[in-house]
Amino acid sequence: MRVLAIETSCDETAVSILECSGSVSGATFRVLGNALYSQADLHAQYGGVFPTLAKREHIKNLPVMYAEAMRQAGNPTVDLIAVTQGPGLEPALWTGIEYAKELGDTLGVPVFGTDHMEGHIVSGLVSQNDASSYTLSAPAFPILGLLISGGHTELVLMRTWHQYELVGRTLDDAVGEAFDKVARMLDLPYPGGPRIEKLAAQASARGAVHDIVFPRPMLHDKSCNFSFSGLKTAVLYRIREMKDLSDDDKEHIAQAFQDAAREVLVAKTKKALLETGARTLAVGGGVSASKNIRAGLEDLVRTDFPEVHLSYPTGGLHLDNSIMIGMAAYLRHAAGYPSGPLEARGAQKLAP
Ligand code: KG4
Ligand code: ZN
Repeated sequence: MRVLAIETSCDETAVSILECSGSVSGATFRVLGNALYSQADLHAQYGGVFPTLAKREHIKNLPVMYAEAMRQAGNPTVDLIAVTQGPGLEPALWTGIEYAKELGDTLGVPVFGTDHMEGHIVSGLVSQNDASSYTLSAPAFPILGLLISGGHTELVLMRTWHQYELVGRTLDDAVGEAFDKVARMLDLPYPGGPRIEKLAAQASARGAVHDIVFPRPMLHDKSCNFSFSGLKTAVLYRIREMKDLSDDDKEHIAQAFQDAAREVLVAKTKKALLETGARTLAVGGGVSASKNIRAGLEDLVRTDFPEVHLSYPTGGLHLDNSIMIGMAAYLRHAAGYPSGPLEARGAQKLAP
């Protein structure tokens, strides 16, 4: 089945065309066309994503991305249109949904509303075969999903496909949001995660010695919940105390902040693995691009859970993209589920 997928939940405008076969017990996805435009540079001046600007850019770029994906794929007929319906920025989501509906009418093809976070989970479960194809091999259940992005920080349990139980979540900021805000305090552009990681790596490479230690919020709390807003505030106070920051100071702050964020993520994931007995740990979302955080999770699994299979996105699927939306839609459709609502649901939750 050929799926045309559209993603506009935040600041990426993306359209893909996938040839999909198989089912949740083993599926293959060949990318026939993939066009993605990131608005990140545009939002950089605001230090975060500005919803009305994102909407305007999506409206402008959707037809361009569609034409490009179609051109790459050789203008094939499609059987299903997948579109992200939430969670995300509602004005941005609506642009993709309206565009998908119009396209569905024009092409006479059904439109399938898809959850963005389910896309991130699926992107963490598939493995890349070559530049343009991915395989889903039957994963071992239960699966613990660690979803870490600019809008979400959640631990969800899947005992079987498409059934989600909430294990833990952030009570305030998402971890990616904390990275972005701390980056802003250090005068680094949006998105902040990769910049912080780079500064922290520079500090490690030169064996930097400093006394900066930030709090690990909720580390010893019994739940698997997270909190990142206190950590962010602690960074702010420290920066105010230090006044004029040298380049070395910035590296030290980035390193200390990243250490704190990673330690909390790893500790809560450990707690969740112990509580749930999960056999697969699937990491998804933009923060899963962090080599530093991946290394922390790899250490955890190697030392404490050697029987758990750790998988995270490969082939560029960690950041927002439409390939993951097409894959998630196809798997739900193949399992006989109806489409999600064709309306923007900004606060939609996988597991209430
Ligand atoms: O999944 P995503 O592309 O968009 C959302 O759905 O939010 O995630 C973007 C987030 C941003 O907050 C960005 O700073 C963060 O992922 N991020 C990182 C890294 N790369 C991206 N955070 C930490 N370290 C990284 N290397
Ligand atoms: Zn995302």
